[in-house]
Amino acid sequence: MSKSLDGYVKRLTTMTADENSQEVYEDWAPAYESSMVGEYGYIAPRISVDLFSSLVTDTNAKIIDLGCGTGLVGVELVKRGYRQIDGLDISENMLAEARSKGVYRDLIQANMTKPLGIPRSYEAAIGVGCFGNGHVGPDHFEDLIGTVATGGVVVFYMNGIPYEQDDYPRHFRALEERGVWRVVTLEQSNYMQTLDRPGWLLGAICGGVGNAD
Ligand SMILES: C[S@@+](CC[C@H](N)C(=O)[O-])C[C@H]1O[C@@H](n2cnc3c(N)ncnc32)[C@H](O)[C@@H]1O
Repeated sequence: MSKSLDGYVKRLTTMTADENSQEVYEDWAPAYESSMVGEYGYIAPRISVDLFSSLVTDTNAKIIDLGCGTGLVGVELVKRGYRQIDGLDISENMLAEARSKGVYRDLIQANMTKPLGIPRSYEAAIGVGCFGNGHVGPDHFEDLIGTVATGGVVVFYMNGIPYEQDDYPRHFRALEERGVWRVVTLEQSNYMQTLDRPGWLLGAICGGVGNAD
């Protein structure tokens, strides 16, 4: 693990709460995968879909990939046999890369820090690497969970820095106490093979309570 953070990854990691990452992703989109996977050994999509596939056994499940980016998660899902996958992201250029993969049924441009207004039309949601300053904060979890039907599955992969700074566990407990979800897995792992880069993987069952109702 000799590499250090630079370029777009460093810029994104050091954002403040009042910044927005969209412009960075619009620029980075064509080179995102060569940098994240090629240089940093980014494996969060694979780790997340490993958990997802243990929780969602029906490969016909309707899935939304939140913050789908260039489609790395969609590709992993298709490898495991899932076929009804929609993607959502704020960045047009990231969505264009995702479209070129041919793995998504529908691609939605939306900002997850605003109410999404998506009814409980999905059986599962997955969101990988889209949390933190300049991205999506813990106050928005409830709206994201609200895209999933009661009893459906939610899988999130979160960078360890905002997880600790913004006390995500406190938000998770509050959601659980209100019946918004029931967390079934919460574990730490390293998600970049060339760096020491801890993140948290969460799996939960949607309780059918909250914003969407
Ligand atoms: C690090 S990338 C992760 C992409 C993909 N999930 C992956 O694992 O490769 C973060 C993604 O979140 C998207 N994003 C950040 N903030 C967002 C927001 N407020 N609403 C929707 N998408 C957002 C970015 O455009 C970017 O595509």
